[in-house]
Amino acid sequence: MNILVTGGLGFIGSHTVVELIESNHNVIIADNLSNSEIGVLDRIAQITNVKPKFYQINVTDKKAVEEIFKNNHIDGIIHFAGFKAVGESVENPLKYYHNNILSTIVLSELCLKYQVNKFVFSSSATVYGDQPSPLKEDMILLPTTNPYGETKAISERILKDISKANGNFSVCLLRYFNPVGAHKSSIIGENPKGIPNNLMPYITKVAKGDLPKLNIFGNDYDTSDGTGVRDFIHVVDLAKGHVKAIENMNSNVNIYNLGTGKGTSVLELVNAFIKCNNINIPYEIVERRPGDVAITFADASKAEKELGWKAELTIEDMVKNSWEYEKRLI
Ligand code: UD1
Repeated sequence: MNILVTGGLGFIGSHTVVELIESNHNVIIADNLSNSEIGVLDRIAQITNVKPKFYQINVTDKKAVEEIFKNNHIDGIIHFAGFKAVGESVENPLKYYHNNILSTIVLSELCLKYQVNKFVFSSSATVYGDQPSPLKEDMILLPTTNPYGETKAISERILKDISKANGNFSVCLLRYFNPVGAHKSSIIGENPKGIPNNLMPYITKVAKGDLPKLNIFGNDYDTSDGTGVRDFIHVVDLAKGHVKAIENMNSNVNIYNLGTGKGTSVLELVNAFIKCNNINIPYEIVERRPGDVAITFADASKAEKELGWKAELTIEDMVKNSWEYEKRLI
């Protein structure tokens, strides 16, 4: 298939592009480099021996996106491009609503106009809100505590409605749990601009000495060691889930959790990092972070049953690959 990947130079996007190419798909990337860098394109080529066609555009710019649809035959799209910093979305909600929702609308309009019938959307487990885990795809969506999460829930609704109204237009909503790790080549990975918001990139910056210590947000949750529990998933497993998803779009609306089905606490992850990489991570327990839930993990059985996809890599792979990648960054 010819697949347009928006945000294809970002963390999850770049790993997905690699897996798509390795499954013999032809990839076209659209990315505005707002949270990624152009060098990733060469690194994708180094891994796969294929350099995908690249458009540096903003996917809210309909005219620019339409040029891609006009000049390429596209069979399906995977839409990653979006802002994802929860705290920033609370401070600047319009930035999030404008970018994340408009991009979904623009891409859908062009899909309908150019008869592109497969749309895979990068959603998040955050749409479940604070419901008891394991989280299942048929649970209702609860209002999230931040605009970022709302943009995911609203985009899901928009895509479902379009699909209902247009028989041929098939959507796949992939709800990610907590992606971490990096490609085994160590040349692509997660490299957020500025101080990281998420746990693993924060840990690797502390390991490197760029940040003095990790703040663990609360140890008084109702969990085995009191710290938050998450379903960490290796980004390469997650990327493979996208390949399966776009290759198996059977009905109009397909929804899958992409997680391991297993919860790991923040402290367990930190200790695994220390043990596997033989490097100390100084940390301090601080106040809970507003908006955090105690426990989130997936029921991952639907993707296994319907797509034949299952996460295979372990917490050890995740902490090792994350550190190997960070060490190579200048
Ligand atoms: C967050 C977002 C989620 C988003 C995901 C990826 C919320 C409520 N959820 O997930 O919507 O899809 O990021 O961008 O914000 N932690 C620390 N110290 C740190 C950082 C994190 O202790 O410096 C803890 C958190 O309290 C949490 C766990 O680590 O228990 C994971 O945090 P994080 O990596 O930010 O992911 P989520 O909050 O689960």
